[in-house]
Amino acid sequence: MSDHVLITGAGGFIGSQLVDRFLKAGLVVSGIDNFARGSKHHLSQALNNDRFHLFEADLKDSSILPEVLDRVMQNGKIATVWHLAANSNIGAGAENPELDLENTFLSTFHLLSAMRRFGLRSIAFASSSAVYGKQDALISESTGPLLPISNYGAMKLASEAIISAAVESFLERAWIFRFPNVVGPRATHGVIYDLMRKLARTTSELEVLGDGEQRKQFLHSSELLDAMEVVQQKARDAINVFNIGTADEGAKVSYIAEAVVKRVAPGTSIRYTGSAPAWVGDVPKFRFSIDKIAGLGWQPSMTSQQAVERAIDEIHLEMSETCS
Ligand SMILES: NC(=O)c1ccc[n+]([C@@H]2O[C@H](COP(=O)([O-])OP(=O)(O)OC[C@H]3O[C@@H](n4cnc5c(N)ncnc54)[C@H](O)[C@@H]3O)[C@@H](O)[C@H]2O)c1
Repeated sequence: MSDHVLITGAGGFIGSQLVDRFLKAGLVVSGIDNFARGSKHHLSQALNNDRFHLFEADLKDSSILPEVLDRVMQNGKIATVWHLAANSNIGAGAENPELDLENTFLSTFHLLSAMRRFGLRSIAFASSSAVYGKQDALISESTGPLLPISNYGAMKLASEAIISAAVESFLERAWIFRFPNVVGPRATHGVIYDLMRKLARTTSELEVLGDGEQRKQFLHSSELLDAMEVVQQKARDAINVFNIGTADEGAKVSYIAEAVVKRVAPGTSIRYTGSAPAWVGDVPKFRFSIDKIAGLGWQPSMTSQQAVERAIDEIHLEMSETCS
């Protein structure tokens, strides 16, 4: 039988692309999602593949997980669990902290408990730059203290911590990926997606949160998946923490807003709401060092601006197809 992997958050922006990639590589793929945010539409190709098995389940419900994993394992022993399910909306988590507690931390906690029970010993975890909080200098994996400024970042950091503890007790290996802002097709959230949705409603004016000066690194989802695979195949410590990002200064929100307007509704005026941070939990500037992952031979080929421009085209095309 082919290798079997489990992906949580399989219907999401990144999870669904990971599903497609692993199916293309010939693996058997099981996916879990509660579809709080992702979409079955993202999995339309995968659902036609008999090596893909979808389990609609809520990871924050510990009572159902053993039964779900029991069914998942009927498709073969799982080599690695790729844990991507989480609340991905930082702003919503600021309003309602339970979203992050339940969908990010408790989902990780319950998943680990079930993995222990079924003897699953490898996890690859989607963490975030948000664990670092506000940092002025270039951020390496050893930057600290880690003082997140959002519930989202706090629950990602708590998830990293519980995974680290599990490595001491039953896990053989864990990979923790600290993602930057990721852009690309199938977006379910994020600045490009939000601005395009606003323009779909009205082109009289585009409101942009903050002063437009926020500057962050943006990585295209295709490159993120390449990087995750390289790390998972090459990093062999018991616990492997890696920043994944671009090697540039990042792109400004004003650059993104102007590029979105140019592509979608030329001539629309842009109104910035005020000074940064744009919302509670927003980190206005960050810049990753990617020296550690470069040591494994991975380098991004696109700059943040190139990734943004490509994603704008991809999301615009998807939105036009949905409307037509
Ligand atoms: N997209 C980014 O820019 C970015 C940046 C840093 C980290 N991340 C992390 O990467 C992962 C994937 O992000 P994404 O952008 O694809 O987000 P997404 O919201 O599109 O995908 C997450 C998926 O998890 C599912 N989910 C949430 N709670 C669940 C639960 N309790 N049980 C089962 N399924 C549940 C959602 O329905 C969704 O389909 C997340 O963990 C996110 O925090 C993403």
